[in-house]
Amino acid sequence: MLFKRSTVTTALPYANGPIHVGHLAGVYVPADIYVRYLRLKSEEVVFIGGSDEHGVPITIKARAEGLAPQDIVNRYHEIIKKSFEDFGISFDVYSRTSSEIHHKIASDFFKKLYDKGEFIEQTSEQYYDTEAGQFLADRYITGECPHCGNKQAYGDQCEACGTSLNPTDLINPKSAISGSEPVMKETKHWYLPLDKYEAWLREWILDTHKEWKTNVYGQCKSWLDMGLQPRAVSRDLDWGVPVPLPNAEGKVLYVWFDAPIGYISNTVELCQNQPEKFGNWEKWWKDEETRLIHFIGKDNIVFHCIVFPSMLQAEGTYILPDNVPANEFLNLEGDKISTSRNRAVWLHEYLEEMPDKQDVLRYVLTANAPETKDNDFTWKDFQLRNNSELVAIYGNFVNRTLVLTQKYFDGKVPELQSLKENDSEVLNEITNQKSKIENLIDTFHFRDALREAMNLARTGNKYLADTEPWKLAKTDMARVGTILNVALQLCANLSIAFEPFLPFSSEKLRKMINLMFTGENSDSKQLAWADFGRSNLLETGRQLGTPELLFEKIEDEVIDFQINKLAKTKAANATVAQVAKPVKEMVTFEDFQKLDIRVGTVVECTKAPKTDKLLQFKIDDGMGGRTILSGIAAYYPEPEKLAGAQVCFIANFAPRKLRGINSEGMLLSAETTDGKLILMQIKEEIQNGSAVV
Ligand code: 2FM
Ligand code: ZN
Repeated sequence: MLFKRSTVTTALPYANGPIHVGHLAGVYVPADIYVRYLRLKSEEVVFIGGSDEHGVPITIKARAEGLAPQDIVNRYHEIIKKSFEDFGISFDVYSRTSSEIHHKIASDFFKKLYDKGEFIEQTSEQYYDTEAGQFLADRYITGECPHCGNKQAYGDQCEACGTSLNPTDLINPKSAISGSEPVMKETKHWYLPLDKYEAWLREWILDTHKEWKTNVYGQCKSWLDMGLQPRAVSRDLDWGVPVPLPNAEGKVLYVWFDAPIGYISNTVELCQNQPEKFGNWEKWWKDEETRLIHFIGKDNIVFHCIVFPSMLQAEGTYILPDNVPANEFLNLEGDKISTSRNRAVWLHEYLEEMPDKQDVLRYVLTANAPETKDNDFTWKDFQLRNNSELVAIYGNFVNRTLVLTQKYFDGKVPELQSLKENDSEVLNEITNQKSKIENLIDTFHFRDALREAMNLARTGNKYLADTEPWKLAKTDMARVGTILNVALQLCANLSIAFEPFLPFSSEKLRKMINLMFTGENSDSKQLAWADFGRSNLLETGRQLGTPELLFEKIEDEVIDFQINKLAKTKAANATVAQVAKPVKEMVTFEDFQKLDIRVGTVVECTKAPKTDKLLQFKIDDGMGGRTILSGIAAYYPEPEKLAGAQVCFIANFAPRKLRGINSEGMLLSAETTDGKLILMQIKEEIQNGSAVV
């Protein structure tokens, strides 16, 4: 289907902390590349961002700091908004879900569904903290995940295995407010019957969106294969959009109901503020010729591919997403990024510490983007990519071309005379690369697209090395002129090729070559993607600007500073975490004896299929062997090395099916004070099947 325009949204980050490199690599940098590219192609596009200011993450942060939720969101909304602006994320609007307009639109949306009879109203028993006097929604309740054994699972989701949960699924639930054991109490809520949409979703996603990224399509398929249940769209909380019904005091819309509606509210706000530029908001959300694209991280897939589309479908007048290019996660120096543990590279701090290096970070995060699997950000890689790619390839080519033009032609574009084969090859290469880059960006392969842009700069370096104009300058100035003309045309084309990825450097480069930048320059028109491929972007005789270095080398001290900073955070975390957990309630010897703990030897250990979290163990248990799954994959990157280890397992633990595999027992692991799981291993060789008493 041919679309007329695009509505591009980015996941609204919770305003409970600043933005970090994980957010950038997963969502905002790819979305910005895409939108800048569409704009360069003169396509009609709107780019929507904003803060997600409701939900339990905000109230938990407020409680921890002894502040009101509104104070927390005010603080972080400003930090986030400014850091995005300074980093060049070119939103058309960056608003917030605590705004009046959002409250109204989210309320109306709920009311419309309610009036159409799209909700089920249900009274159920939910966990209630008697000490705090409040119902425990989602993240206010923690406990053990029934699927992978993670002890820190939340009432709505286990972050270790990604499973979506209900609070009652948790084993040994605890209130995150008081730490006490919650009790059950009756409460009424409204549910969206997702089961009603299951058949439609199967057809819409599995049959008509086979082009979605495999990680996205795969997650949707396994959700649909597991079967959908009605999902509550309200919560007992005092922070959020109030449920717009009589007798609903103390109840607000579930944050995952109101947040995606935030995309719509922010569009409405933008169109109200700039009607001449963006027109009526409805064309961005209700016209079949508009292409809706959601950029998100993998933890948001179900909400954007299943829940929000079902809401839109229930409402009945909206378009549905055409694509949801979700990325996997970025780790930092081999470990998870964590807002709560302050373990991150924060964007606002980066911008203070390395002003004018936006493009270096944009480059590194794109070159190493977690497009198909989780990836790792390291400061050494950051330095290496800057010094040996941006500086040594792209920057070096531009600098040599400009300095030579300055030296031999007083900084004026020399005349292009007869072309030799290698000149034509370079000029042809520009158009070849253009079509490769286009195909890659069109299909959301930004990492590969950037690599092709860099390959074009490599072509330039090779061209100068092959033609050696500095040698010809002694004998054939006309030929030198032709070579530098070709090299300059390539520089101008590179400024377009890199524009979506590295907008700051492209602007700097265009100043250096005095080409069509906005400002006092005489050129009336902004450079466009359509100009990419032209070999006459710079006419003979044009006076160029002053050559400067496009990128600067990053020295070891800069990197060491960042590495030390992370090490300090880690040390601070370790001090906090070294406090052992309180001991659980007493048990009797009889209680203990119920557990049949045995020793076994790991015969084979592999990653379990279809999940990053579980390891699959074949255990020689002295009784014919058994299979056990354990949620410790994150801590054992080379699981095969566990073969031969002697371990302890609960032999009479009721078998469970996890990811289609029968797990017959539970392996014992130690949970360290900073939350890592270490498989308990026996040093002395013991006969398999021996009992632990
Ligand atoms: O995961 C998150 O950070 C959510 N705040 C994303 C919300 S996306 C959208 F629905 F607003
Ligand atoms: Zn789990």
